[in-house]
Amino acid sequence: MGTKRLLLINGPNLNRLGKREPDTYGKQTLEDVIRLVKDTAWEYGYEVEEFQSNHEGDLVDQIQVAEEKAAGVILNPAAYTHTSVALRDAISSISIPVVEIHISNVHNRESFRHTSMTAPVCAGQVVGFGVDGYRLATLGVINKIESGGRKES
Ligand code: DQA
Repeated sequence: MGTKRLLLINGPNLNRLGKREPDTYGKQTLEDVIRLVKDTAWEYGYEVEEFQSNHEGDLVDQIQVAEEKAAGVILNPAAYTHTSVALRDAISSISIPVVEIHISNVHNRESFRHTSMTAPVCAGQVVGFGVDGYRLATLGVINKIESGGRKES
């Protein structure tokens, strides 16, 4: 296990951050998100490996191997949040903490975004703080790791 490494995983369409629906997701890019997570993690002595995919199975593959290379995961499953039993089962299958993050406040949007398949098996969830939420999620996962590394809250 990578004791001082975090894995940042972003799901579908997040490669288009900055161009995609800026009124909802802001103007910052995925590169900005990665820089923010790396800078935050660095303050606590953690390195960050990052991964983005538009493909559900590729996200499952990354979650399955996460505990071999990292002590915790920051995950924005994007649209798969609301649909993916496969992602949920992958999260359940690992023992390191996973913190779910959403840029937008999914609870004041369409009703299909109000349900998360993945949140119940995550250590915590950050919602509605824009891209700054990635900093909060990074602090949250480090807190979980350093308070014993348990995946459940
Ligand atoms: C999102 C919210 C999801 O509902 C949506 O499908 C996304 C982004 C967010 O970060 O706010 O792609 O996960």
